Amino acid sequence: MVLPGPGQGRSQAPQISGVPQHVAIIMDGNGRWANERGLPRTEGHRQGEIALMDTIAGAVEIGVKHLTVYAFSTENWRRSPQEVRFLMGYSRDVIRCRATELNEWGVRINWWGRRPRLWKSVINELEAAHELTADNTALDFNMAVNYGGRAEITDAVNQVAHEVEAGRLTAGHISEGAFAKRLYAPGAPDVDLLIRTGGEQRISNFLLWQCAYAEFSFNPLPWPEYNREALWDDILAFTGRERRFGGAVDKVQP
Ligand code: FPP
Repeated sequence: MVLPGPGQGRSQAPQISGVPQHVAIIMDGNGRWANERGLPRTEGHRQGEIALMDTIAGAVEIGVKHLTVYAFSTENWRRSPQEVRFLMGYSRDVIRCRATELNEWGVRINWWGRRPRLWKSVINELEAAHELTADNTALDFNMAVNYGGRAEITDAVNQVAHEVEAGRLTAGHISEGAFAKRLYAPGAPDVDLLIRTGGEQRISNFLLWQCAYAEFSFNPLPWPEYNREALWDDILAFTGRERRFGGAVDKVQP
């Protein structure tokens, strides 16, 4: 099914300033959405693909430059073997089937995650999709697959340790910037807005380093009901927030 791309939705993106550069999304609530309708959890994931494509289109339209979504965490291996198998196979198929469409929308597809344990066929599709879309500039769409924030930080620590051993870095002189260069996507900016759908209010090991000063939106909609308009609402609310990054100024009331 070909889905409406950027500029082809029911409504137009609001013209606003202060659009977050980097939006991250925890696409939660698929399983509950399906079960409440008497359907197996996997049907929620299927519906989640439509929500995801509409949200990507909306991100392009409103001018978000980086969109990172949590597709499969390092902890999701604890789910039933059937659901894990479904999520692996479905991720592979979604990437394969949607890469051309996303390429036409000007989206560059990137993968953030750990290699060990991840299905080889999923890695192959992610790498092929990245190669196909590598020159696009409208939006960096980062799929976090077999991703964990602690795993990412641990992997970076190990890399730093190797480089210290090899004499390329000096212990005691490693800056935050030098450390961040060893994360999965060194060039990506910090997250400005983290959205979690499905009503839960936690970070679930997502982008722990990059979310240091992120604003949070806990949206009660289950992920299958999320869409570009919901994204624009979350972004509109974000533009009203006062971000201080640890700074402060006196605003004494008269
Ligand atoms: C969380 O909902 C969702 C996931 C673990 C998978 C996300 C997958 C998709 C949105 C499918 C389409 C996209 C790709 C990349 C394959 P949950 O299952 O934890 O829901 P629950 O909290 O209701 O149990």
